Amino acid sequence: MMPPRTPTLIQLLGLAFTLGAVAVFSLFTLSQLSGLKRLGSDIVDRNRRDSLQLIRIQNDLAQIGLALRDMVEGTEPYPISGYRAEFERIKGDLEDALAVESGLTPASRTPAQQVLLRGAFERFWSAAGQLWEMDERGAKTLIRTRLEAERSTMTTVISRMLVQNNEAEAAAVQEIQGIYGKVERNLYVFVGLVLAAIALTGMLVIAHDRRMFNSVAELSEQRRQLAGQVISGQEDVFRTLARELHDEFGQVLTALGVMLQRVERKLAESSEERAGVHEVREIANQTLERVRGMSQMLHPPVLDDYGLEKSIEWYLEHFRKQTGLEVHYEKIGVGPWIGDRIAIHVYRILQEALNNVVRHARTSEVWVKAAYSSGRLVLEVRDRGAGLPARPAREGIGLIAMRERAELLGGEIVIESAADGGTRVLLSVPLGQGVDS
Ligand SMILES: Nc1ncnc2c1ncn2[C@@H]1O[C@H](COP(=O)(O)OP(=O)(O)O)[C@@H](O)[C@H]1O
Ligand SMILES: [Mg+2]
Repeated sequence: MMPPRTPTLIQLLGLAFTLGAVAVFSLFTLSQLSGLKRLGSDIVDRNRRDSLQLIRIQNDLAQIGLALRDMVEGTEPYPISGYRAEFERIKGDLEDALAVESGLTPASRTPAQQVLLRGAFERFWSAAGQLWEMDERGAKTLIRTRLEAERSTMTTVISRMLVQNNEAEAAAVQEIQGIYGKVERNLYVFVGLVLAAIALTGMLVIAHDRRMFNSVAELSEQRRQLAGQVISGQEDVFRTLARELHDEFGQVLTALGVMLQRVERKLAESSEERAGVHEVREIANQTLERVRGMSQMLHPPVLDDYGLEKSIEWYLEHFRKQTGLEVHYEKIGVGPWIGDRIAIHVYRILQEALNNVVRHARTSEVWVKAAYSSGRLVLEVRDRGAGLPARPAREGIGLIAMRERAELLGGEIVIESAADGGTRVLLSVPLGQGVDS
């Protein structure tokens, strides 16, 4: 199986894409905002200030118009020269307004318009200058022929400029709305893209995790099966070996002993030969005992003959004698017949737990409890010794094998330091459902 690719690359790509989208959108928005600022201050504000000046000029021109009309019609009780002061005042104001206005000159303005306005203005005032030296008739003629015409030219130009300013402003407002619309649209696209990138990255990472998880689960299952096969195979070999040792060698050695005994009886008492044969017979007997012991160690025959319950009792007795440890045994309930295939694993777990007490617990007492209830065996091995090291240098093969066996039986095992010191091994195994291997 190929090791799956790491999800880091996917995550990095997702991150890069998201950051890229943020950067692009930010730049775009900033450029749009500066466009908005330009439109706002350069066009709209300037147009408004310019329009104010144009209205001021229009107002002045209207006043001039009224004065010119009064002068021609002669409705006021004073002569034409009496208007001079008013004209000077209006001229001053007009000049000021024109100077401010030409300083603003919005983008929509053409130089020709400016020239036209300036020309009409100059012509008007140079003609108006002659007004005060003329007699009444000449003055009225000058007003009708020239001054009115120039004033009207100026009014028309100013009106046109006002209209242009309004149009330019309307266009700018529309453009601003267009920009808002564009930014809004792009915001939607941006949010959509980022959400999609996040969702895609998340989905890829989840899919990757799922694959990883599956392959880990698969490997774990393979390992479990393998461990089960190894342990079961080992037990099969041990059982066969034990039987061979017991049956073959045992029989041969027993026969040898009987034959030697027969020979011994035929020899003269206290003869040297008889003593020699006796010695050989003793050796054969010892060897037979050893072979029996080995056979029992490899696979205790009590397991097959008497079942687990009796085997535990037998083993505890054997263990007591062998090690000198004080074993407190408690049995609760009566178990069903637990055959060899389950029994061997429980037996081996008990064996390993007790051997660990001898080897590691530094104590002289151990408590063993076997509780049988319907369909379940709970076995506890408890000591009040040193307890498990806080951080074991290595987990020994003994504890691992205990766990494997428990798993093989479909049971659970807890190996822990007990709260009041010492170590506790608690095994719980289901019984009688053919959980076997
Ligand atoms: N009853 C116990 N009391 C104290 N320490 C224990 C006990 N059982 C196991 N241990 C600790 O756990 C370790 C692992 O045990 P095990 O897997 O059986 O390996 P081994 O017995 O070969 O050392 C032991 O080395 C020991 O430190
Ligand atoms: Mg051990």
